[in-house]
Amino acid sequence: MNRIQQLITANFDRYDGKDIEAYIRLGGFTAIKKAVEQGSDYVIDELKLAGIKGRGGAAYPTWKKWDAGRRRVAEQKFVICNADEGEPGTFKDREILKKDPYKVIEGMMISAYIFGAKKGFVYIREEYWDIQKTFKKAIEKANEAGYLGEGILGTDFDFTLEVFSGAGAYVCGEGSSLIESMEGHAGRPRIKSPRIGEKGYLGYPTLVNNVETLAGVTRILEMGASEYARYGTEKSKGTKVISVSGNVNRPGVYEVPFGVSLREIVYDVAGGVENDRPVKFLQLGGISGPLVPGSALDTKYAYETLDEKGFTVGSGSVVVVDDNNRIIDYLVSVSDFFYHESCGKCTPCREGKRQLTRLLKKFVDGTARLEDVNAIEKVANTMKHASFCGLGQTAPTAILSALKYFMPELWQLVEEGVHENVAEGEWK
Ligand SMILES: Cc1cc2nc3c(=O)[nH]c(=O)nc-3n(C[C@H](O)[C@H](O)[C@H](O)COP(=O)(O)O)c2cc1C
Ligand code: SF4
Repeated sequence: MNRIQQLITANFDRYDGKDIEAYIRLGGFTAIKKAVEQGSDYVIDELKLAGIKGRGGAAYPTWKKWDAGRRRVAEQKFVICNADEGEPGTFKDREILKKDPYKVIEGMMISAYIFGAKKGFVYIREEYWDIQKTFKKAIEKANEAGYLGEGILGTDFDFTLEVFSGAGAYVCGEGSSLIESMEGHAGRPRIKSPRIGEKGYLGYPTLVNNVETLAGVTRILEMGASEYARYGTEKSKGTKVISVSGNVNRPGVYEVPFGVSLREIVYDVAGGVENDRPVKFLQLGGISGPLVPGSALDTKYAYETLDEKGFTVGSGSVVVVDDNNRIIDYLVSVSDFFYHESCGKCTPCREGKRQLTRLLKKFVDGTARLEDVNAIEKVANTMKHASFCGLGQTAPTAILSALKYFMPELWQLVEEGVHENVAEGEWK
């Protein structure tokens, strides 16, 4: 099996992201033409056959979301491309937006056509101003060429697109918080139901999709679902765009077929570990994902095989950590991130993050005791089960993984701290 496949990323470095003519020469806009000619049932069937699931992290089948959405009758509907990508370790959406913006625009056109929306937004955070610039230019060119605007492709399909500049908060990547922020409110999640598919932006049905999902839809229609489904495994068809970082020789964005092993990703795709150190662990699916110990490197990268072991594809990031790093330092940095990003709306997350950060820092300064390990487990589980949104529910994932796989290392820190304090005659 080839470890790298370029289906979704096929156009990378083959055209300047603003050159619409070059995109057309590479086969651009054939997917939307197919969608318009064959109709929405055809598109839904193709997506079902291709088995594509939401690449924003939740992995919900795209065909199901679109099929339910297109049946909703409303005065207005909106489509949004979620390009917030604030998850540390994840940087593949930015690469797609920069290197093949028209594939995402085309995916939005298809989603709008199926869903029945006339207006779409690409939500890009302000820090990614250079990508906003590229994307605005691409939209301008698509307008000039008649691919956006009124009567697209000689039909009655009207669709306009604009960039919305997000202020840059991790929680605003969550669909309902994203919409709250677009409406000018504080970026905090809404209660469900109603779901945003029923009542989203300005109270109208809204379809939110990830950048890679939209680019993937375009590619699937372009090449045909049965061809796309030849890649990957039975239950995880096709490919995944991943961002690999940490202690590897060749960090970067790669597209791999589902079914490669984690070992192949680290050694063959990303060039192996720096200075040939052993892998201590990986963190998969962003900072909210689980830790995978080095002993599990032969696990196949596919939804079903990762799920079986409690791991996840999530946002598609793979952070590689070698044995020069202490688990506690890694956990403190994860915890600091969530402490900073918690929106404060619900108590388990707001207070839980504060307590977890405080407790973890005791392991660093040598004052942690047995009861602190128990307290960490209790707080982490409370957050996981009682937090209002996905941020708080997944914030303790890395900590819970560490308790499972790296307990001896944490115990050692407790013991060293006790000895040090006894030697100094000041028992804390
Ligand atoms: C805290 C949090 C942050 C998220 N950030 C992102 C993000 O940056 N990009 C994204 O596409 N989805 C993000 N999601 C998932 C979205 O809520 C949503 O599931 C996704 O955009 C739907 O698109 P998809 O079906 O194409 O994956 C986030 C979810 C949570 C809970
Ligand atoms: S879980 Fe955290 S981010 Fe989500 S609503 Fe509660 S405080 Fe806000």
